[in-house]
Formats: sequence, C-alpha cells, structure tokens
Amino acid sequence: MSKYKANILFQMTGSIACYKACQVISRLVQNGYALKTICSKNALNFIGKATLEGLTKNEVLTDMFAGKFSPMHIEISDWADLAVLCPATANMINKLSVGIADDYISTVFLAFDRKKPYWVVPAMNEKMYEHPTTQNSLKTISSWGVRILEAKEGWQACGKKGRGRMAEPEDIYSAIINSLADGDVNKKETGK
Ligand SMILES: Cc1cc2nc3c(=O)[nH]c(=O)nc-3n(C[C@H](O)[C@H](O)[C@H](O)COP(=O)(O)O)c2cc1C
Repeated sequence: MSKYKANILFQMTGSIACYKACQVISRLVQNGYALKTICSKNALNFIGKATLEGLTKNEVLTDMFAGKFSPMHIEISDWADLAVLCPATANMINKLSVGIADDYISTVFLAFDRKKPYWVVPAMNEKMYEHPTTQNSLKTISSWGVRILEAKEGWQACGKKGRGRMAEPEDIYSAIINSLADGDVNKKETGK
C-alpha cells in the first residue's frame, strides 16, 4: 500500500498566480499527498522547475513525448486520483471547453477518467474572466462534471481591483482534500 493519502496531478498555466499555487502544493505535500506537476510552456515564465521539484520531489512534466515506451498523457492520467488546473488561464479554459488537445495539459484533460475529480481554479484579469467566451467555457466544462473554484473580487496582477483574482490557497487546499474525502477517491479502500 502506498504511503501517500492520494496521488494529485497539479497542472499550472501562465499566470502570476503560479506563486500562490505553490503554497497549495507545499501544504498538500506536507499533509501526505503525492504530487506531480505539469507546467505549460508559458507557466515556466512565472515559476521555476527548481521550486516545484524541491516542493514535490518529482520532476516537472512539460513534454508528453518524453516517455519512450508509453504515452505519458495516459500514464499520468491513470496515476492521478485527482487533477487540478491551478492557476487556470483563460486560454487553457477555452481550449478545454472545445476539446483541443495540442499540449500536455489539454491532452491529459481528454484522457482523464471523468469519474475522478478534476478541479479548475481560474486566475485572470476581470475582462478576460467576464468575457462571454470564458464564461461559456466554464459553464460547458462544469456541465461535464469539472469542478470550478470561482475567481474572487480583489487585487489583480494588472494593478486593479476586479473579479478574476484566484481563490486563496487555503480555500483551494480545502476544496481539494474535501473532494478526496467525499468518497470520490479513497486510496485506503482501493488499496492503491
Ligand atoms: C505578466 C503576464 C501575466 C499574465 N497573467 C495571466 C493570468 O493571470 N491569467 C490568464 O489567463 N492569462 C495571463 N496571461 C496571459 C497568458 O500567459 C497567455 O494567454 C498564455 O498564452 C497562456 O498560455 P497557457 O494557457 O498555455 O499557459 C499573462 C501574461 C503576462 C505576460
């Protein structure tokens, strides 16, 4: 039996809120969860691999073609008990809603077992968040069972107050562990 409570796939896209997401990662690791991270190319403009690898003790995944003998997007989807996209950019949310699979994160999304929890935690400027395409995409993916942790009103990286600020790390942490405790996944029962 694994020494970990559950396997969490933590995926990050290109937003300043990557720094806040690190607090969630750190807390999950400290509380006994196994974490693997996937970063979009643009996420790596905001966060360094050294930080994520130091926190998770696992290599940051960026290249789904790196697996020599197996399709990595399937392998990692099977490994995870829960996936989270945090921060989730407007770009990635809109891609997911139409089934584009042209990078690691969007390909994993299609390959991910929809019985397992998949969280999307948006972070963006207010106009991007309130744009009809983003709102429609959030509604669409939510209708497929994806859990959305809505953005809040507050200070944004663009230097203004508005709706689009990513949920706070403690709320993200609670949403994740509560959805694992919900019985969606229980590693002790499955013996994984
Ligand atoms: C300084 C800076 C901050 C950004 N912050 C955000 C953000 O918080 N949310 C967002 O949706 N896009 C943000 N963007 C734009 C995205 O990084 C851009 O749309 C990118 O193509 C997203 O790629 P990805 O979804 O593959 O990571 C930001 C861009 C810059 C230059």
